[in-house]
Amino acid sequence: MINYQKKITCLTEQDTKALAEKIADIAQKGDVFALYGTLGAGKSTFARYFIQHLTSAQDIPSPTFTLVQTYETSLFDIYHYDMYRLKSPEEAYELDIEDAFYSAVSLVEWPEKISPLLPKDLWKISIEATGNNRIFVLETTSQEKKQRLERQFLNE
Ligand SMILES: Nc1ncnc2c1ncn2[C@@H]1O[C@H](COP(=O)(O)OP(=O)(O)OP(=O)(O)O)[C@@H](O)[C@H]1O
Ligand SMILES: [Mg+2]
Repeated sequence: MINYQKKITCLTEQDTKALAEKIADIAQKGDVFALYGTLGAGKSTFARYFIQHLTSAQDIPSPTFTLVQTYETSLFDIYHYDMYRLKSPEEAYELDIEDAFYSAVSLVEWPEKISPLLPKDLWKISIEATGNNRIFVLETTSQEKKQRLERQFLNE
């Protein structure tokens, strides 16, 4: 097992949009993106640009209250989760995480709320905010994911 890390600084929300689109372009069925970061870090913003890039959805609300929002693409469904309000990790089973993690693409805000249920092989994305700057740390333990990421960022 490897521990690959890539740090990307986004100085503006436009940079975050470009990054989200670049990552959306390498997403595959079964990918789980665990989005870590404090309130207002930019998890929903990243997810919104990611989803907007792959679907024709006009409205991409934050799943703060619904806990999950789903979208369709020609290749896979997208499950956008916000686990902040869960009282126990097990409540996530009612949100179809088993199906989502296996056969869709999942974007998970507040993944620490379901730590024991997260797959080992995932994309860990940690967002750190200062003013309008965001530092994104992308991490994976999978050789295959590392290669997908490196191929996509060859010129950076
Ligand atoms: N470079 C940037 N990248 C992303 N968002 C930015 C950036 N600069 C400013 N912002 C703003 O930061 C805010 C991020 O809010 P967002 O709802 O995405 O946070 P969140 O991490 O989902 O919070 P929550 O934990 O409440 O769900 C938005 O208002 C967005 O416009
Ligand atoms: Mg959010």
